[in-house]
Amino acid sequence: MLEGTNINLRVMEQEDIPLYHEWINTPEIVGKYNAHTFRQISKDLLTKAFSNLADSLQIFIIEKKDKTRIGLILFFLVKGGPVELLEIGYLIIPSERQKGFCTEAVTIFVDYLFLIKNISRIQATADVRNIGSHKVLENTGFTKEGIIRDMIFNQGNWRDFALHSILRNEWKEPVLLKI
Ligand SMILES: CC(C)(COP(=O)(O)OP(=O)(O)OC[C@H]1O[C@@H](n2cnc3c(N)ncnc32)[C@H](O)[C@@H]1OP(=O)(O)O)[C@@H](O)C(=O)NCCC(=O)NCCS
Repeated sequence: MLEGTNINLRVMEQEDIPLYHEWINTPEIVGKYNAHTFRQISKDLLTKAFSNLADSLQIFIIEKKDKTRIGLILFFLVKGGPVELLEIGYLIIPSERQKGFCTEAVTIFVDYLFLIKNISRIQATADVRNIGSHKVLENTGFTKEGIIRDMIFNQGNWRDFALHSILRNEWKEPVLLKI
C-alpha cells in the first residue's frame, strides 16, 4: 500500500476485476478524451489478461482513506525499437473528479516509480483537449514535450495527443510517500 494524505494506492487484485470491468466498459467513466472511449471488453477476456500481466504493466486502485475505490493508475512500457519508455495512465470516477485526487495519485506514483525503478524519465500522453489531464501533469512537475499528431483513433476520428514527461533530475524528494 502506498499511503498519501487523502488517498492510498493499492495493487489491483482479482477481487477488483468486476468493478474495473464496469469502469472500463462505461464511456462516461472512461471519458471522452481517452484512447478507447467506446471500447467494450468481456469480463472473461479481462480476467485472462489480468492473470497474465507481465512486469511491463502494473495497475493500482486509487482508494480514499475509508477504502472507497475511486479510480486507477497504471504504468506500461512503450516499445520503440531498442528503446523502452515508461508511460503512466489514470482515471478517476466522475463523482470524485476535480477534488485533487488524481494530482495526489500521480505525485505518489511518480515517487514510487523513481524509487523502485532505475529509469531516467516517466511519460504521459493526453488528448490535446483533455484540460484536466494536462493540469494534473502540470501540477505534478511534468513538462509538455510536444504534440503527437493523429496518435489515437477514437470516436471516429484521429486525435492529436500531447506528450509530457518528468525526468529523474526534475523530480523532487518524495513528499507524500511515507517510507
Ligand atoms: C483527467 C482526470 C484523471 C483528472 O482527475 P481529477 O481527480 O479530476 O484531477 P484533479 O482534481 O487532481 O485536478 C487537477 C486540476 O485540473 C483541474 N481539472 C480537472 N478536470 C478538469 C476539467 N474537466 N476541466 C478543467 N479543469 C479541470 C482541476 O480543477 C485542478 O485544477 P487546479 O490544479 O488548478 O486546482 C479525470 O477527469 C478523469 O479520470 N478523466 C477521464 C479519464 C482520463 O481522461 N484520463 C486521462 C487520460 S490521459
